[in-house]
Amino acid sequence: MSEQPQTWHYGLVAQYWAHFNDDFRPHEIPYFRRFIEADGQPALDVACGTGRLLLPYLRAGLDVDGCDVSADMVAACRDKLERAGLKARLEVQPMHALDLSRRYRTIYVCGAFGLGSTRDEDVEALRRFHAHLEPGGTLLVDAEVPYADPTHWKYWLKEEREALPRTAVAPQKRRQAPDGSEYALRSRLIDVDPLDQSVSFEIRAELWRDEKLQAEETRRLSARYYFPHELQLMVERAGFHDAVLHGDHVEAEPTPDDEFVVVVARK
Ligand SMILES: C[S@@+](CC[C@H](N)C(=O)[O-])C[C@H]1O[C@@H](n2cnc3c(N)ncnc32)[C@H](O)[C@@H]1O
Repeated sequence: MSEQPQTWHYGLVAQYWAHFNDDFRPHEIPYFRRFIEADGQPALDVACGTGRLLLPYLRAGLDVDGCDVSADMVAACRDKLERAGLKARLEVQPMHALDLSRRYRTIYVCGAFGLGSTRDEDVEALRRFHAHLEPGGTLLVDAEVPYADPTHWKYWLKEEREALPRTAVAPQKRRQAPDGSEYALRSRLIDVDPLDQSVSFEIRAELWRDEKLQAEETRRLSARYYFPHELQLMVERAGFHDAVLHGDHVEAEPTPDDEFVVVVARK
């Protein structure tokens, strides 16, 4: 098993998340919220990041804790909670080593399952979720389908893979944070392993102030993609029952056009 998950959510990338990503994929927030409100408290936000989902839930008076492998993301989340006068238990833990004293009625993972981990660790993470749920509790794990991004999907083919790593793409337009500093990110695909169903990316993050480059960092992220029915079977193997698939954060069966699916299951 790997020592530490290979994710890029540290340093400048964590700061970028804290400043700019609260509005990212807003339809995910009401989707998970419905499960928490329907007899699903307390809830655990696994890989809570900087609190994109956690904060609105706490503001609504819901009892939700958070954990994440990145101390930088958790620190940014803690800071946001403090500034909003909110409280939650936050822990720095990778999901495959989840070890918390509390038990939950809902555990959800949004945009993080398969990040930085080995396949064995992903299996272990599902077991840990099972151990941390109350009997009858609900697990929700979302996953981007492997074929969601057409520019990346083609590199699953041997002939196309020979063109990897891709050269760096142009940086995103700089975005200005409330303190006047500006951030720019550029990422590129490094490698695809279709047998492991994993992809690795590199990101370069820049911090600018007064038109001067103040800092730059290069980081890596690995992501394992799961096919929807594969993930459903893995969840069942971890001891869950009544596992169903939902489409992209709606309570309906997925369609071939969905870029995300959610596995919903009971302990
Ligand atoms: C794309 S962000 C999503 C954050 C949050 N769930 C959201 O939807 O806004 C992915 C998060 O997963 C965390 N992460 C990545 N691999 C992890 C792991 N193996 N265990 C726990 N957290 C992990 C990262 O640190 C990062 O905060």
